[in-house]
Amino acid sequence: MCGIFAYTGKKGKEAGGVLLDGLLSLEYRGYDSAGIFMPEAGVVRAPGAVAELRKKIPKDFKGKSGIAHLRWATHGEPTEQNAHPHSDGSGEIWVVHNGIIENFKELKKKLEVAGHEFKSATDTEVLAHLVEEHLKTEKSFEKAALAALNEVRGTYGIALQYKMEPDKIIAARMGSPIVLGLGDGEHFVASDPSPILPHTRKVVFLEDGDVAVISSDGHKIFKLDASNVHRATTDIDWSAEAAQKGGHEHFMIKEILEAPEVVVNTLRGRLIPEKGLAKLGGLESVAEQLEKIDRIIIVACGTAYYAGLVGEYMLEEYAGIPVEVELGSEFRYRKPVINERTIVLGISQSGETADTLEALREGKRHGALTLGIVNTVGSTIARETDAGVYNHAGPEIGVASTKAFVSQLVALALLTVFLGRQRGMSQSEGEKIAQELKSLPQKIQSILDRKGEIEELAKKYASVRDFLYIGRKYNLPIAYEGALKLKELSYIHAEGCGAGEMKHGPIAMIDEEFPTFAIVPKDSVYEKMLSNIQQIKARKGPVIALTTEGDTEVASVAGDVFFVPETSEMLSPILNAVPLHLFSYYFSKANGYNPDRPRNLAKSVTVE
Ligand code: AGP
Ligand code: GLU
Repeated sequence: MCGIFAYTGKKGKEAGGVLLDGLLSLEYRGYDSAGIFMPEAGVVRAPGAVAELRKKIPKDFKGKSGIAHLRWATHGEPTEQNAHPHSDGSGEIWVVHNGIIENFKELKKKLEVAGHEFKSATDTEVLAHLVEEHLKTEKSFEKAALAALNEVRGTYGIALQYKMEPDKIIAARMGSPIVLGLGDGEHFVASDPSPILPHTRKVVFLEDGDVAVISSDGHKIFKLDASNVHRATTDIDWSAEAAQKGGHEHFMIKEILEAPEVVVNTLRGRLIPEKGLAKLGGLESVAEQLEKIDRIIIVACGTAYYAGLVGEYMLEEYAGIPVEVELGSEFRYRKPVINERTIVLGISQSGETADTLEALREGKRHGALTLGIVNTVGSTIARETDAGVYNHAGPEIGVASTKAFVSQLVALALLTVFLGRQRGMSQSEGEKIAQELKSLPQKIQSILDRKGEIEELAKKYASVRDFLYIGRKYNLPIAYEGALKLKELSYIHAEGCGAGEMKHGPIAMIDEEFPTFAIVPKDSVYEKMLSNIQQIKARKGPVIALTTEGDTEVASVAGDVFFVPETSEMLSPILNAVPLHLFSYYFSKANGYNPDRPRNLAKSVTVE
């Protein structure tokens, strides 16, 4: 998730300036608030941009060390009160954190019983109080920090400071990246090398479970069991911009490659596999009302709309609820028949899409219960819906939505289990879906490990100016999504089409210059898809088939094949989206475009 930067040095540099400049180089990661703490000067926090934070910093805000943060809120609105750094009760121990403390509620309860009082709604704040509690017995900052981190479950990249030892900073990594910068008489902690590079190119990448103690003179690294560990020093030859992309050429490919981690984060703390249940904290307040719901209208735009179309199949087949999916830009002009037993569900990565927002407001005006599946905490859609599910996919910088789409499908699967188990879905059915969801990260990784095959396909077809994408049932929306990605990144004609619909017109377009991407997993419509591929081949149309590993029949018919791991029909869209995202990325590159900046498009369409 967002950005951490910490500094300690004895070179006479003003730490405040170093930290603020460092936050600016982390802005690209997307954030909603910022803050800085220096032992000799205190803390300043502000919602909004780093520029807002800078305005609040007093002239005498001086120091030789400090910790700073760009927050991407997951727990608690993006307010000054919830912005990091957070402290313990004494104001001696301060923390900045990227990630999610999964067991923060139980830790907070235990600490409150011990007399701790909390000031924020964040999960992060418990870390400072936990270190404070252990400091009472451990008598050493490092030991107290280690003891505290051994109680934590979840993901974190953190930097800790203790006012009594201002030259020291403790960093730790579990699931969220942390890199140390090794300067001469100065040391750094950051989420990625970009804020470090202006000072030194010598870095040490921490690994999960590492705890580092840095001072102006040097650093030591431990494991959580307090054993010493050595990590190699790397000399970074990247540019600052490349460092922001984790060494990748574009944000889009970085975000596509994050898909396994995104699925883990979307599922985190939300499955009880042994009971076949989904636990969605954001729906607890309306759980009873949801039991009475008899209809769902999904409203969304673009890629999010296609996620909704997948959700329609999931919810109808496994939760037995009638669903319709409407474009946000259309729904608001309908006279929808809605009552209090209708859900209007908005799906939006940004949470600011005007068409989706207005559609939700229309639903609310008609008395519907409004829900959101949103990636951006505290966004307008998140705030205006009655309840919802946050994606926890982290900031998505690329204009083309990739990892957020994968997360939306996972969130819809969780919602399906949640509502289905209220409506007679058996425990064993719920268990089966839960187990398959947990297997997805490594199945996606096996696709990403073969991204070179997709790159070769994109290069082979890079000169075509028309593309048809076909699928059926759960994978028809994936055909639409694949076509959208190709057209929005390479500006050619690409359209998704129900495979069964081809004979009603679209097949007239097919010839040897007009290739088709056929999504044909081994599922309930496999045979039908096979005959659709035959129809295309009969008209000399080139075919690229996405099919299930081990399928030789499709391979014998289609010209090109990319194999996708076996999964359930319901979850197959999540796997099939990934090669199509990769294909659109490499196709755009092969045509000399910048996939991160497609012409005419904005990341968030806040106009109607
Ligand atoms: C997707 O690649 C596009 N950038 C666009 O269709 C996007 O999905 C749409 O604008 C909806 O955005 P939202 O998810 O932020 O509401
Ligand atoms: N979960 C923490 C919060 O909501 C940290 C979020 C982040 O990664 O910025 O404050």
